[in-house]
Amino acid sequence: MPPAERPHDPRITVIQQELFDEKKSKVAKYQDLVVGRPGWGALLGFELVTLASWVPGALGLFLRGKLYPLVLGRVGRNVVFGVNVTLRHPHKIAIADNVVIDDQCCLDAKGTDNRGIVIGSGVFVGRNTILSCKNGDIVLDDRANLGFNCEIFSASTVRVGKDVLMAAYTYLVGGDHLYDRVDIPVLQQGRTARGIDVGDGVWLGAHVVVTDGSRVGRDAIIGAGAVVVGDIPEFAIAVGTPARVVRDRRSEGAAAGGGPQPPVPGP
Ligand SMILES: CC(C)(COP(=O)(O)OP(=O)(O)OC[C@H]1O[C@@H](n2cnc3c(N)ncnc32)[C@H](O)[C@@H]1OP(=O)(O)O)[C@@H](O)C(=O)NCCC(=O)NCCS
Repeated sequence: MPPAERPHDPRITVIQQELFDEKKSKVAKYQDLVVGRPGWGALLGFELVTLASWVPGALGLFLRGKLYPLVLGRVGRNVVFGVNVTLRHPHKIAIADNVVIDDQCCLDAKGTDNRGIVIGSGVFVGRNTILSCKNGDIVLDDRANLGFNCEIFSASTVRVGKDVLMAAYTYLVGGDHLYDRVDIPVLQQGRTARGIDVGDGVWLGAHVVVTDGSRVGRDAIIGAGAVVVGDIPEFAIAVGTPARVVRDRRSEGAAAGGGPQPPVPGP
């Protein structure tokens, strides 16, 4: 059966087109893709703040704690930025209290008419993790815990619920490529996005992939290495590719005489 036709979403940023647009100056491209705001003031402010990104040790933590809020949309109390945290379109990034953004993370809120990235209180974002918007939005709700080397891509809306535990190397792919035509490469066929919702209390095991348009119900567990395609019911345990439900946690809890347990925080 041929794949269902989906229209190209022209709002999704295509980086190659932006980078090699000959009508724009290098400065204009940098401002569009990195700073996100026009004017020399915005550019200079961004450049000065970025100087703090590579400063090591306690001095770096102190400087970033003071300087990053100057370009970010909103920053609460006790927010820690590790070394080499990259910001893109920082004015569209809002961060609540008691948040850790670990070393080498990239917070990219790029887009022309998106709201950007919202990070709730108590969230931990592990090192090397990339939050990447292409004109989409990413919401990490309170106390979500993202392990090392995760990626969240959004060309629509990707939400990670409260108390979600995302193990290392998980990838939420909140966008897709069209591939109906066979006369030109997939790369040239346009983009589409439906978004992803990961419900409160979910545990995604290491190396899980969640494809665009999927919904993981609250308190579900997805086994290591699974690929989620579509909907997973709440409290389910699902494993494999594509992820299939192997049991319901509530029946286990009932059998053991207890209710559903919250996930244990990971490394
Ligand atoms: C899914 C998981 C929680 C176990 O769930 P469970 O319901 O207790 O699973 P069981 O061990 O009873 O296994 C049920 C079936 O699923 C299979 N299975 C379990 N985990 C699997 C996985 N990750 N991938 C594929 N199959 C898996 C088992 O082999 C078993 O198959 P069988 O019925 O044919 O024998 C666990 O295997 C897992 O993947 N944990 C994630 C670990 C992780 O990534 N930690 C990172 C630190 S935060």
